[in-house]
Amino acid sequence: MRVAVVEGDGIGREVIPVAKRALEVLRPDIEFFPVEVGYGRWERTGHAITDDELRELASADAILFGAVTTPPSPDYRSVIVRIRKELDLYANLRPVWGNGFDIMIVRENTEGLYSGVEKIEHDSACTVRCITRRGSERIARFACGLARPNAFITIGHKANVLKSDVFFREICIAEATAAGVAWKECYIDALCLDILQHPERYAVIVTTNMFGDILSDVAAYLVGGLGLLPSGNLGDRHALFEPVHGSAPDIAGKNLANPIAALRSAAMLLEHRANDREAAHKIEKAINAVRARGVLTRDLGGNHGTVEFGNEVIRELESMIRN
Ligand code: NAI
Ligand code: MG
Repeated sequence: MRVAVVEGDGIGREVIPVAKRALEVLRPDIEFFPVEVGYGRWERTGHAITDDELRELASADAILFGAVTTPPSPDYRSVIVRIRKELDLYANLRPVWGNGFDIMIVRENTEGLYSGVEKIEHDSACTVRCITRRGSERIARFACGLARPNAFITIGHKANVLKSDVFFREICIAEATAAGVAWKECYIDALCLDILQHPERYAVIVTTNMFGDILSDVAAYLVGGLGLLPSGNLGDRHALFEPVHGSAPDIAGKNLANPIAALRSAAMLLEHRANDREAAHKIEKAINAVRARGVLTRDLGGNHGTVEFGNEVIRELESMIRN
């Protein structure tokens, strides 16, 4: 198995080495190769990503991705949004679990408000929210496939205001009905509050691109912040695993980033692409063992650095392998 490793920018460069080491310990058979994309590369070469990197990424069995900085500028295109689109990674899975809740946010990942169909003019700017039948059907089907027996999915939308969500909602309902999966629905704004107040009421949530982006950052509150949440970007042929968080320029280069989100993303890679649940489980066990000893990064109230926390997790994994 060949895994492309993209550290990217900011704390991506700090957390991905930890996640990669975990994979190396657990699966010495994996072959890694680095791919450089992102803002740092743009500053150096004038290109954030080229067709060459896209080809390299497409050649991998899986991609382990850190984060990239995207400046809010009119002519810079988000690298991660481009990769998701070009590799057709249409399902963004964002699990959030904790005491008494186990939620899977399934975010459509290739269209909606991140369609890239937009323009800025002198007195106005507009971004087109494209929702297609194909895009909606496949994400709804994906979500239904994740529903547990006798459970339901929740459709998150804003169909009271957006006609594009009237369309999305109807397709989701049709797919759920065809799959024999029960469904509920919630307006996305209300859902952002209710997921915090009653997380136990949710299991699989399916929603459109930007709503899923926002909802998953909101849901990070349930578990102690963005440093903990992993994600998988899945398509029919390619797969990319990355923390939900970004490049965090405010803490980058200071050994403060929590590598748990990246470690859990590596675990998702093992589960989804190597079919190795056991190894994925080991990563979670190691994280929990280290946390239980009070070894925590600053975002969780501790005083350990990224490197120190990472070393503890790796040591834990090594001892699991030996025993
Ligand atoms: P962010 O997720 O980078 O940071 C938000 C806040 O959470 C910051 O205060 C940061 O310090 C904290 N945080 C994030 N990850 C953490 C970790 N592992 N440990 C401890 N604290 C952590 O989001 P922000 O600040 O909105 O964006 C920064 C840059 O990242 C932007 O250029 C943005 O475009 C980019 N970004 C990239 C993403 C990607 O590559 N997939 C996703 C989200 C943002
Ligand atoms: Mg986000």
